[in-house]
Amino acid sequence: MNISSVGVVGAGTMGNGIAQAFAVAGIPVTMTDIGQAQLDRGLKTIDASLERLVKKDRMSAADKAATMGRVETSTGLGAVASADLVIEAATERLDLKLDLFGRIDALAKADALIATNTSSISVTRLAAATKRPDRVIGMHFFNPVPVMQLVELIRGLQTSDATYAAVEAACKKIGKTPVKVKNSPGFVVNRMLCPMINEAIFALGEGLATPAEIDEAMKLGCNHPIGPLALCDLIGLDVELAVLNVLFEGFKDPKYRPAPLLVEMVEAGYLGRKAGRGFYSYG
Ligand SMILES: NC(=O)c1ccc[n+]([C@@H]2O[C@H](COP(=O)([O-])OP(=O)(O)OC[C@H]3O[C@@H](n4cnc5c(N)ncnc54)[C@H](O)[C@@H]3O)[C@@H](O)[C@H]2O)c1
Repeated sequence: MNISSVGVVGAGTMGNGIAQAFAVAGIPVTMTDIGQAQLDRGLKTIDASLERLVKKDRMSAADKAATMGRVETSTGLGAVASADLVIEAATERLDLKLDLFGRIDALAKADALIATNTSSISVTRLAAATKRPDRVIGMHFFNPVPVMQLVELIRGLQTSDATYAAVEAACKKIGKTPVKVKNSPGFVVNRMLCPMINEAIFALGEGLATPAEIDEAMKLGCNHPIGPLALCDLIGLDVELAVLNVLFEGFKDPKYRPAPLLVEMVEAGYLGRKAGRGFYSYG
């Protein structure tokens, strides 16, 4: 199956980045969310991201306008009905995603593929909430989507070879590198990354060093391009907590228990960059 139109459900950090990646590659996208404010924010983020490319002479103003013209928005989920591939990138909550998968399944074309960008939830479980489990797959993009190369492609137990092949081709078409991963809590990257970030939060909570010192140490000591706490602010503290909870519950292993400071910061609404405050403050 050739994918020539895409629906993206959720216009947040990941959703607008995914929409941008497809639109830049010439594929029309319809982005939906629960409110106009979320859609406006998503569109503004795409516009600002493309404008940076124009300023750096990596995209012409005409190409930017054409790319923006390929992104439609709607507050109604029904807007994804004509898409060949619907990518769910809504809030990381199992109940919310199970409900969305049932509704997307009812609205999408019979032969459409449905992907989830979940960081940690079982693709097999989401697929089972539809009447087309063979046409469901995990497409785990990384943040920020326009710059990050990797897409973990997660096969649920039911995912067909044809679905995998079509989505793999779509990833390559938008210039990404897919890596095949089995369905398992946290998949591959987050299984290693999120415990490392969690350990940095434990270190901070225990007063070992300040956020800036912890980040500087990891950048200089491990050659990481960004420190774990700055990265957590970028990912979103709520997303980090949700992934840790899935690892903790999925493996029943205490090594994945979330740091108390992370739990408390999420309770306070200090969710990172998107909230203007996390381990650092953003003006
Ligand atoms: N943030 C990251 O670094 C990252 C990386 C990879 C994957 N993910 C995954 O991507 C997904 C989205 O995460 P995010 O960081 O973009 O979150 P976000 O909070 O920035 O955005 C989520 C969006 O989903 C919308 N939404 C909620 N319910 C909805 C519904 N019923 N219909 C349509 N839209 C709805 C919200 O209004 C919000 O705009 C999650 O599953 C997350 O685990 C996140």
